Amino acid sequence: MRLVLLGAPGAGKGTQAKKLIEKYSIPQISTGDILRKAVADGTPLGKEAKAVMDKGELVSDKIVLGLVEERLKQDDCKKGYILDGFPRNTAQAEALDGILTKIGAPLTVALSVDVDMDILLKRLTGRRTCKNCQQMYNVYFSKSAKENVCDKCGGELFQRDDDKEATIKKRLDVYEAQTAPLMDYYKKKGILKSVAGMGNIDEIFNKVCALLG
Ligand code: AP5
Ligand code: MG
Repeated sequence: MRLVLLGAPGAGKGTQAKKLIEKYSIPQISTGDILRKAVADGTPLGKEAKAVMDKGELVSDKIVLGLVEERLKQDDCKKGYILDGFPRNTAQAEALDGILTKIGAPLTVALSVDVDMDILLKRLTGRRTCKNCQQMYNVYFSKSAKENVCDKCGGELFQRDDDKEATIKKRLDVYEAQTAPLMDYYKKKGILKSVAGMGNIDEIFNKVCALLG
């Protein structure tokens, strides 16, 4: 399965992807996670990306496409993959199609996770992530048992730099303007599926699995 996860910031793409990789034994490719790792490692690319990410804007297509193309060449992608947070605009979607057509392995499905705006804001301001294992929590919806400590590995939890209210607003605007049009793009290709992303995480996951088969 070669899957693209679509949805606004906070829709639960990362949350559902983490469950899907276990069920389908395919990797999650999150451009946001790759970029945040480059920022944490202090690489030149990370330094360039950080300023853009902190503003809630999109990192250049050239950088992101280079990262994705490299990642897709790795052996673990042969059985399929879950793209999370990519593509993010029509240029990226077209470039991805070009890469996949060349290797004769087009996308199987684009799955949109749909969530109302007021819930997105709470999910983003409340999100906390483990520094060690990347498990996600939420101070409103799914707290860790001990404040700021990961239930799974005991790691320290942190809040993403771009989960501040002003940046969140910008990210949501960028999503509406640049990423939401991809629904139509994949609908026209006949591979778009949608799931209501509100309610219990496991219930949403069951609906996702039913759609993916
Ligand atoms: P990225 O990391 O992709 O962030 P995003 O798209 O804004 O999406 P999020 O990760 O915020 O949300 P999510 O849908 O994964 O939600 P999650 O599962 O965490 O991108 C960050 C930045 O990197 C961009 O702004 C851009 O600058 C750059 N970038 C990345 N990709 C790029 C690209 N392709 N091109 C250019 N630039 C790029 O869930 C959110 C919270 O809600 C969590 O706390 C979670 O626990 C909770 N939650 C999830 N589901 C539920 C539920 N059902 N009920 C209750 N709580 C829930
Ligand atoms: Mg995410």
